Amino acid sequence: MTVTIVGAQLGDEGKGALVDLWGGDAEIVVRYQGGDNAGHTVVDGDTTYKLSLVPSGAVRGKVGVLGNGCVINPATLFDEIDALRAQGIDPDVRVAERAHVILPYHRVLDGLEEDRKADTALHAGTTGRGIGPAYEDKAGRRGIRIGDLLDPAVLEERLQYVVGYKRAIARDVFGLELTEAFDEDHLFDLLSGYGQRLLDEGMPIDAGTYLTEAIDRGEQVLFEGAQGTSIDIDHGIYPYVTSSNPSAGGAATGTGVGPGVIGDGEIVGIVKAYLSRVGTGPLPTEMLGDAADVADEIREVGGEFGTVTGRPRRIGWLDLPMLRHAARASSFTGIAINHLDVLAELETVKIATSYHLDGAEIDTVPPTTEQWARCDPVYREFDPWPSADWDAVSRRGYGALPTAAAGYIDFICDALSVPVYAVGVGPKRSQTIMVEHPFHL
Ligand code: GDP
Ligand code: IMO
Ligand code: MG
Repeated sequence: MTVTIVGAQLGDEGKGALVDLWGGDAEIVVRYQGGDNAGHTVVDGDTTYKLSLVPSGAVRGKVGVLGNGCVINPATLFDEIDALRAQGIDPDVRVAERAHVILPYHRVLDGLEEDRKADTALHAGTTGRGIGPAYEDKAGRRGIRIGDLLDPAVLEERLQYVVGYKRAIARDVFGLELTEAFDEDHLFDLLSGYGQRLLDEGMPIDAGTYLTEAIDRGEQVLFEGAQGTSIDIDHGIYPYVTSSNPSAGGAATGTGVGPGVIGDGEIVGIVKAYLSRVGTGPLPTEMLGDAADVADEIREVGGEFGTVTGRPRRIGWLDLPMLRHAARASSFTGIAINHLDVLAELETVKIATSYHLDGAEIDTVPPTTEQWARCDPVYREFDPWPSADWDAVSRRGYGALPTAAAGYIDFICDALSVPVYAVGVGPKRSQTIMVEHPFHL
């Protein structure tokens, strides 16, 4: 069977921790979209792993697959594999031959476009990893795929067209002095070298066939979403989004496993108990003004600073309209709620249960970003809960949660009509309360 893990909000909900928890019972862990814009954290005892491309199941020795829906920067992938090997883990990573490659010029163009947008309403605050430009080339039918790296004649032909195109854009649109990132010979040498290493390590696969055969053999497959539903290119806060589909449909299109198979399995939405946001765009429940102190408290306790830039993340109250939208778009069969510990000891805790928009009350996210920016949250206040010995709480189980914290979770589950499968009360594997194991339902 399959279990699909989907970010229910804005990314960084703690997906890595749940993939690690449940991935112990999977044979294969599969990323279906995104690239090295992701940062998934697994805390195993005293060791913290930060993974951007290698699926989080690697920490437990699982086979990791990067599906065709991913955009792969081979430099990052090999650096990450080498770093894990230095830490004593030897990840078995397979890469879809249909997946697209992030080239050096994609990163350069990502930065150029962000700079140009900096003073406009379009500025998205991307991770600068070349994600948007790589997906743009995929849709424009000029991208380079993993399979192309394995065949020098095809690679040469693909580069001939696309490099000239990129040089013209960099030079004539952005006025850039061209570097080796735009040099065809350099790129050919670099990419064919990556292709050779992929072959040497036996990594390229036809992902759809590989995964379907595994599922047919009765193996357990876990799909690891990156990012989150509100930054999905179709269902998110466009244009302040990433360029792929983190929602559950992406698990089918991004791997070659049929939607019926994904839908027959469990689809678990990962929810942070509040909101955190890197990047720009409207955020109706953002804690500003009088609530800025509470945001500071949450930011400190929750470590809500960007992993790359150290920038403070924006903080908001939990937003039920956003969760209803995510639960519908992905058909959540259950949810996990993380970071309950971070809200402990606050004076009050709030959830936005609906929005006021232009005189009407609505309970889900409106279709345009401009409408969303005008939404005024309707809050419900909850009793606060005290801090606790969270290790002991997770050992003893759900019943050991502070009563008000359990009430908060029950309210969310009732509102979404989904059960809770896990509750995170700290970053460690041992600090997640497992209520249900989706592979054993
Ligand atoms: P992902 O991108 O969804 O995998 O999440 P990240 O790894 O980027 O960010 C989540 C951060 O919160 C990491 O530092 C995790 O170790 C940490 N974390 C995950 N679950 C919990 C939790 O329940 N409580 C606390 N305090 N931290 C958590
Ligand atoms: P994980 O998998 C949070 C955000 C960026 C930016 C927008 C577009 O760790 O949850 P991109 O580089 O993708 O073109 O940037 O999306 N973003 C994330 N925010 N968590 C992530 O991944 C993110 N990946 C991208 O900050 O606003
Ligand atoms: Mg992250």
